[in-house]
Amino acid sequence: MKVVLVGYMASGKSSVGRLLSNKLDIPFIDLDEYIEQQQEKSIPEIFSEKGEIFFRKLEHEMLSKVLTEQESVLLSTGGGTPCYSNNMGTILGTADHSIYLSLSIPALVDRISKEKKSRPLVKNLTNEELPEFIGKHLFERRQFYTQAQHTVNCDNKSLEEVVEEINQLLL
Ligand code: S3P
Repeated sequence: MKVVLVGYMASGKSSVGRLLSNKLDIPFIDLDEYIEQQQEKSIPEIFSEKGEIFFRKLEHEMLSKVLTEQESVLLSTGGGTPCYSNNMGTILGTADHSIYLSLSIPALVDRISKEKKSRPLVKNLTNEELPEFIGKHLFERRQFYTQAQHTVNCDNKSLEEVVEEINQLLL
């Protein structure tokens, strides 16, 4: 079984993915971590040393590699993954289930304001600038996320509640 989680930065893709993969008893891969291991560099280092276009090409290649090589996988993508290079087409064409973890703009602003440093796209923004940036960015990206087969609204839900909701969807 191949399950892919998509959603904006800080929507919980990695934590939900890890817990859900345990429940489903399938291997877990976090695409950002996979890229970091392959490059032996952190995501911020890849962005600052090689640039975003290099990262997007690598992300595209690694996504296809994981989804074709793995027979069974719970894959957590990066926030931008579905939005470039027909990656959403690849996800829809190869995964048995694709799930969009949806959060409201205020919830995303709240989460991202607390963990900006590790995220190259927002690290230079002030907390005052975040709501407008996230609002516009999500507006552009939502058209890709909403192509996923399922949408799970994660506002005001615990990690365990989100995982259980997805587990029920997959039964
Ligand atoms: C990105 C999100 C990040 C990471 C990179 C770019 C994006 O992943 O892939 O910094 O374009 O939204 P997370 O969604 O895990 O933060």
